[in-house]
Amino acid sequence: MLKDLQEEIIRLKKEKDICILAHSYQSEDILEVADFSGDSYALSVKAAKSESKTLLMCGVRFMAETAKLLSPEKKVIIANGEAGCPMAEQFTAGYIEKLKESKYKGYTVVAYINTTTELKSVCDVCVTSSSAVKIVNKIANKNILFIPDCNLGSFVKENCPDKNIALLDGGCPVHAAVTKEDAVKAKENHPNALLLVHPECKKEVTALSDFAGSTADIMKFAENSENDEFIIGTENSIIQHLQIKCPDKKFYALSKNLICSDMKLTTLTDVYNTVSGTGGEEIILDSDIAQKAVRCINKMIELG
Ligand code: 13P
Ligand code: SF4
Repeated sequence: MLKDLQEEIIRLKKEKDICILAHSYQSEDILEVADFSGDSYALSVKAAKSESKTLLMCGVRFMAETAKLLSPEKKVIIANGEAGCPMAEQFTAGYIEKLKESKYKGYTVVAYINTTTELKSVCDVCVTSSSAVKIVNKIANKNILFIPDCNLGSFVKENCPDKNIALLDGGCPVHAAVTKEDAVKAKENHPNALLLVHPECKKEVTALSDFAGSTADIMKFAENSENDEFIIGTENSIIQHLQIKCPDKKFYALSKNLICSDMKLTTLTDVYNTVSGTGGEEIILDSDIAQKAVRCINKMIELG
């Protein structure tokens, strides 16, 4: 029974002093056993502050690596080691180093947190979708190279008009697959609904939205809004979470394809296996690379 499994997870995590962190794209049964859930930024802050000896990340690998970077003395385990973020691996550290020495010499390199530890180790500051605009505005250098997501990057560019922001051709394959036609059709089907999108969506989709923001900001917007219908332009799990939080409101998917198969890999059974000591994968990072990468994340927390 689901409830029995959840109760056993809660008993074991308390007994073993494990803090469960779950990204909001995880399923509801996982969020129910988590100590903290939220967007990438909230998870990284919670990871830094947690007093538990072990952190269990239900999300994708870069999130678990971020937790390890912030808490190197803790044991950090990813519930399902297969869960990666395809965007995080789109560029190698070597490629970015070459750009820094040539075309983008003198630029401050801003890395979306959806990057590998190795990639972070050659960048100057990290951002998440909820902190990107604020942080980029605070950087003294006018010239910024924003990697890897060109859609989030162009959202930042629009909101930081004083900066000269260069972009590369990376992005989230899930959000970037949403088309302008999807947005037009969803709005036609639900004329009273507000369109809320993640800035990883293409510019022409974001342009049609009523609000663009991180996962947590989208949820906050829908919860606090006086409107009662919303088209959700981010991973479809958010629809269920919002429907549970706001039973009197209506939520529709912007696209049936807004499903991140990596985020969907982690199951409640993975969480159970990890807390019972038979599953999960411990995150081990190269200490030299980690030392360089953590500077990027600390800078994000300082500026964010
Ligand atoms: P958030 O920063 O909104 O949590 O997004 C993370 C992510 O992977 C979005 O696809
Ligand atoms: Fe990566 Fe996109 Fe999945 Fe987020 S939704 S984890 S950016 S592939």
